[in-house]
Amino acid sequence: MQINIQEDYDAVCRIAAGRVAKTLYSKPNAVLGLATGSTPLGVYKELIRMHHDEGLDFSQVTTFNLDEYVGLTPNHKQSYSYFMWENLFKHINIPRQNIHIPSGTTDNYEAFCRWYEDCIKQRGGIDLQILGIGTDGHIAFNEPSSSLGSRTRIKTLARQTIEDNARFFDKPEDVPVFAITMGVGTILESRDIMLLASGANKAAAVAAAIEGPVTSMCTASALQLHRETLCILDRQAAGDLKMIEYYEWIQNKRPDAP
Ligand code: F6R
Repeated sequence: MQINIQEDYDAVCRIAAGRVAKTLYSKPNAVLGLATGSTPLGVYKELIRMHHDEGLDFSQVTTFNLDEYVGLTPNHKQSYSYFMWENLFKHINIPRQNIHIPSGTTDNYEAFCRWYEDCIKQRGGIDLQILGIGTDGHIAFNEPSSSLGSRTRIKTLARQTIEDNARFFDKPEDVPVFAITMGVGTILESRDIMLLASGANKAAAVAAAIEGPVTSMCTASALQLHRETLCILDRQAAGDLKMIEYYEWIQNKRPDAP
């Protein structure tokens, strides 16, 4: 894993957006894996700015989102579909047919999950996957004890995740209990991965993911098995890393550090 530590959230987002842009400049028809939640918001803002100010082109890009709440329609304000349209897609020139977000309201989840996996394969696999991390160490909605070989499927959310995400809903009882999510195995097949984290509330999960054992109790730790994962962290999220001096030393030594 490559660890990149930045002073604050804005710097994390600038670096991450720059990495997305670099991918698109070298492969204009790249396949991007996208996350929702608070963490990638600044990245999407920066990508929108780059689209408007620098002509960053999304006309050939394909996207696959990680997850969606079961039971929420795309026009529900807390659905991840709504989030993506409001915070990215409606501001850039990506063709609608290139956007893929798991359905929270399909009649047949098993068939839908198989179709989603096939669709990723048909598009040549994910070139760059953006990930956040839950306070319980989850990536996408792969909660503690998820199989590290798991594929897209329905998952029951952990109590911790429901509590964390209640801030987006009127009442904690409104947070859906189930989600459809890419699996850890699906994510690990991405060619490049960027894990982003900001804030002291992520420090324990980040340390467990980077320096702890590979365990299904912290599904982000499975990224240790991936060849091209870049963790971009602000100083608070990096606060519990034991080897922080070493990572910063490498960061300053490496001429190609982002
Ligand atoms: C969202 C997702 C989740 C979030 C994680 C962190 O699509 O897959 O794993 O990345 O829950 O959420 P925030 O960024 O809101 O702290």
